[in-house]
Order: sequence, then C-alpha cells, then structure tokens
Amino acid sequence: MFDLSIHGRVYTDRLLEGWVYVTGGKIAKVSRERSGKAAAEITLSDSQFLFPAATDLHVHLRDWSQRRKETVETGTKSALAGGVTTVADMPNTEPRMNTVEAVEKRADLMRAKSFADFALHAGPPDSPGSFAALKKAGAFAVKLYPPELGRFTEVLKETTRSRMKLAVHAEEFALVGTERAHLAEGVAVRRILGGLASTSEVRFAHVSTSDGASELERAKRSHSGLTVEVAPHHLFMSDEVAEERIGVTSRVNPSLRSKANAAKMRRMMRLGVFDFYVTDHAPHTVEEKFQGAPGFPGLELALPLFLTKTNDPALVSRMYCEAPAAYLGLRKGKISQGFWADMVVIGRRSWKVDPERFVSKGRVTPFAGETMRYSVEHVFKAGRTVFSGGRFTKTISRLAVDGHLH
Ligand code: DOR
Ligand code: ZN
Repeated sequence: MFDLSIHGRVYTDRLLEGWVYVTGGKIAKVSRERSGKAAAEITLSDSQFLFPAATDLHVHLRDWSQRRKETVETGTKSALAGGVTTVADMPNTEPRMNTVEAVEKRADLMRAKSFADFALHAGPPDSPGSFAALKKAGAFAVKLYPPELGRFTEVLKETTRSRMKLAVHAEEFALVGTERAHLAEGVAVRRILGGLASTSEVRFAHVSTSDGASELERAKRSHSGLTVEVAPHHLFMSDEVAEERIGVTSRVNPSLRSKANAAKMRRMMRLGVFDFYVTDHAPHTVEEKFQGAPGFPGLELALPLFLTKTNDPALVSRMYCEAPAAYLGLRKGKISQGFWADMVVIGRRSWKVDPERFVSKGRVTPFAGETMRYSVEHVFKAGRTVFSGGRFTKTISRLAVDGHLH
C-alpha cells in the first residue's frame, strides 16, 4: 500500500497519462497502468497536469529588521503559491550573513518559519580561513556583490578549498548607474573569466545582457564549472515597457534592458546558454520602491510566467526544477522513482497578475496586469500537501548543504 497516488497527465520527460505513487515522501513508482492501492488517491481533471516543483537558487527573504519588506514566512508561502518548494536565500540581510553567528541564526529562523526547504548563501567573511566555519554553520555557497569583486580571486580560492559554491553578481561597480551602465556586465564578466582556471566552479547570477551571456557561452566550452542564471524580467520584460507601466518603481539590479536585448536573451536561452531560471525575488515596500529600492517580488509568478511565455515544459522543468536541484545535489526536480515527491498540479486556467493579491509583501511588478495561462493549483512537498485552495501547511523544512537535506 502506497501513501499517495496521483492519476492523470504527468510531466516526466514528456506529458504522459499515468499514475505516480508516493511512499515515505519519495516517488515510489511512475507507471502507465494502475499498480496498487494508496491511502490517499487523487485524480487530476482534464485541464490539469502534474509537474515537478521548482527550486529557486536566488531569493531575498529579508525578515528581522526588514520585516516590513518580507518575512521568511510570507516569502516562502509566496514560493509555495508559485510551485517552488526549495529556495536559496541571499546574504544581503540585516545583519549580513558573513559571520558564523549570523548564518546559524538564519538557519534557525528558516527551520522555524520556512514553508519551503532552503539553502543559504553567505557573504565573504572579513577574515580568511573562516569559510569552512560558515559552511559548517549551514551556508552552501558564498555570494559576491559588485563592490566585493576585488576579492574574487581570494574568495574563489577559499570556496574551492572548503568545497563551497561561489555565486557572483558580475557588474563593474564603477559603471553601474552611469550612462555606460549597459557595459558594466560585459566588463566584469570578461575580467572574471580572464583569471579563471578551467575547472573553477562559479555561478554567474542573473545575467542580463546578451554581451555578458555570449562571453559566458564561449567560456563554457572550455570551463566545465561555469553556470549561468537568468531572471524572468531580463527575458520577458524591457526597460521601455516597465517604465511605461510602473515608472520609477521599475528599478532593479541588474537594470532592465532593451526589447532587442530581451529577444536576444530568449534566443540564447533556446540555445542552452542559461542553466538556471531564478526569480531574484527582491521585495520592498511601495514607499521604498518609489524612493528607488531595486527589485521585484517574483516567487508566486515565475513558474506560471515561464510556462505561459514559452509553452515549453521541457525547458521550464530543466531550468527551474531539475538543474537547480541537481546544483544543490538534491534528488528533486524530476517526477521519477527515488526522487523527493515535490510536485505541482498545474491548471490550464487563465488569470490576471494582480500584485495586491500576492502572498509576498512585495507589491510592485512590471508584470502586473498580464494574463497567465497556467496556474499553480496544488503543491506537494515530500508527498504532503503544502498548498491547496489558497491555504498553506507548514511541514518540516530542511537545510540543503553538501547535497543533503538536514
Ligand atoms: O534588484 C536587486 N535587489 N538587486 C540586488 O542585487 C539586490 C536586491 C535586493 O536585495 O533588494
Ligand atoms: Zn539578488
């Protein structure tokens, strides 16, 4: 007897009609025929299909002194509402995540309040040698921001030594905010690539220009450890349209670029240049957005948006489910035997993006008013229902480090 069975259309590596069986939180069997009984049996409707839940490698969940912007609870509920069951949190929190105490405190907070499984990025510690301690405290990776790029070589040496990942926001700090801002990414990417060994593990965060992306495409041919993120607003939004829709509140780092750039980015995505689709979920209050705070909430929109804009479940499941989970070393992101039963029931239902209805505290997005043709209707994490009918259930949330969930 299985714990759960789901019958209907299922996306494995294609859409097939069949049964998915779950036991002990994991997928026990996927088959075209009914092959046993389950304690709970769910049948999907003709307009629904089962899809792997997403893993988002780049989110800012705030909390603490920034609870006005977002809390771990609102941010991770927002994740579940968007079909995301695993999130990797960024270190520009208040206090910053570059001490053992801060990382330990963050891990405790996440365990207590997160509705999703999670991973933590740390910032570079002030003293060398403490990277291993940050990892022990729970950080799987270090993230470098533009003002810290001068420390790139030193930090890469340390992350390699302590077997941590390194993520880098590659924009030349001196150019950001100037008339030559569109060049900032290419300049920084070239500089970083210039000093890189062919095996170095570096993940380029939210690459936003076709210039930066083509450099990385070339470099990936000879460098096996490079990976590249892309965010929805750099694929499916432009500076022009965002400015028209939401004016001064359209600020984000890296900036939105031209329509032509977004079209090139989409072409490059089809060619496989980008490994990971990430929201860069960066919520702020409306007042702060009007004062120039950069970033948008993205978690409850990203999956429906990606499916709607591409109609390509293979691409979506690779870039938002399978590859990011594999990067964390987790058996998630595929509906396949032995994987965690983190799955989403997607409905073919049209709805209009209304940020006032977001679970996230962030309410400003340039996608407001757009029509989505896919909706997140039910979410399972480790075989348990965690989101359904607009309601959330908190289950155990685990920390991902070294490819294990702790
Ligand atoms: O737009 C952004 N917002 N870019 C960043 O790098 C930081 C983020 C935030 O934390 O608000
Ligand atoms: Zn970010």
